[in-house]
Amino acid sequence: MVTLQENRQSEPIAKQLQSVKVPRILQTFRGILWPIKYLEKAFQEYGDIYTAEFAGFPKQVVIANPQAIQEIFTADPKLFNSGEANKILQPLFGNYSLLLHDGEYHQRQRKLLIPPFHGERMKAYGDIVCDIAEEVMSKWTIDKPFEARSSMQEISLRVILRTIFGLDEGERYEKLRQLLTLLLDTTGSPLRSSFVFLEVLQKDLGAWSPWGKFLRLKQQINELLYAEIRERRAKNDLSGEDILTLMMSARDEEGQPMTDEELKDELMTLLFAGHETTATALAWALYWIHRQPEVREKLLRELDTLGENPDANAIAKLPYLNAVCSETLRIYPVLLFTLPRITKAPVEIMGYRFEPNTMLSPCIYLIHHREDLYPEPKRFKPERFLERQYSPYEFLPFGGSNRRCIGMAFAMFEMKLVLATILSKLELSLAVNRPVVAARRGITMAPVGGVRLVLKGQRT
Ligand code: HEM
Repeated sequence: MVTLQENRQSEPIAKQLQSVKVPRILQTFRGILWPIKYLEKAFQEYGDIYTAEFAGFPKQVVIANPQAIQEIFTADPKLFNSGEANKILQPLFGNYSLLLHDGEYHQRQRKLLIPPFHGERMKAYGDIVCDIAEEVMSKWTIDKPFEARSSMQEISLRVILRTIFGLDEGERYEKLRQLLTLLLDTTGSPLRSSFVFLEVLQKDLGAWSPWGKFLRLKQQINELLYAEIRERRAKNDLSGEDILTLMMSARDEEGQPMTDEELKDELMTLLFAGHETTATALAWALYWIHRQPEVREKLLRELDTLGENPDANAIAKLPYLNAVCSETLRIYPVLLFTLPRITKAPVEIMGYRFEPNTMLSPCIYLIHHREDLYPEPKRFKPERFLERQYSPYEFLPFGGSNRRCIGMAFAMFEMKLVLATILSKLELSLAVNRPVVAARRGITMAPVGGVRLVLKGQRT
């Protein structure tokens, strides 16, 4: 028996958890179609740690308590598996994605993939991000509404393609860009997201059926990725600084390189995880900034302190801009949950004893909406991040511990640069000034109907 918190060892254990008293099938549909309503209701009825059930998954413990999250995130990572719970993502990412693995393979892949997204390397991408943002902005016309989520997706997809392949133009990249956008759109509504979660809906009934369409698009993407890998192998040129070159140069302890299939699956993971999430976060940020004009005013005042053509690193350090990005990720975290943590041994958390194979699911959304941490949780108030320092167990849009998002620094950097580029150059407003709510878009939560903005003119 492993006790996660030493000083709790003497307390009586085996407190009983409450279970959601709704049939499993209803929980499944509510969780897919109206996840926020479902989570908030359960929190009110059962508190900040309770069990829930969804078709296709074992019973899981939903956790919205910072102390419990701290006990999990600071425990020995060897006590938990996460990858084994992500089998539903196999059709999207393939067999070798680090998301589907635990233990040594997961650790090895993380080590390989983290460096390009950190420190000096990442900072070299600053100009690329600003240039791509300006190219996309140049397509917006005055007084003609446009959908900000798609524009943000175009920016983030081009940024990730460029960082991974070192290029974002040419026939292959153009095709990849189009196919990835189409693939993501196949899960673009709550209903269409169902087939990602429900195996029974994963039936290939031809090219026009949702699953059939998904499989065909995935196949075409696989072919393009394989073509790129083979071409690089044939050229035998490993001098580039892009992520694919780094991945191809890497060797494991036996001196073996990654196979083509491993490379293809990690590329898919980065391409997908590295742009859909950031695009959604950026769309939300633009919504809040234009929904609350005082936020925009404050941001502009802060940006103006940097003078003309500010340095990317100076932008990244602006405190109010950081608070706006944080509040955006708090109020509607792009992912409602972290990856699950499945116990590999008996563990005790906050006096509850969990047997091996218990699925623990830290709920980012519920933690971010606790009144005791975030007064008036439904209000967008960036100032809260200037007034208080939140712990990594109270504010966790990127998860934590050994599964923490490897793109965290990259995503925050990209968000800040894109927002600064847009706001400092253009006057925008919401096409319709009404509240926008969140709905499921595949595994992420995105603004329903996107965020429609109108370009009013250049900023003077
Ligand atoms: C606003 C943008 C993003 C958000 C909100 C986000 C959120 C998350 C979250 C919540 C997790 C699970 C962490 C856990 O279970 O503890 C995760 C994992 C991951 N993210 Fe992100 N992410 C973002 C952007 C990115 C980017 C830009 C990349 C890559 C370039 C990326 C790559 C990954 C990968 C590979 C994992 C799996 C890590 C592992 O299994 O060890 N993400 N992300």
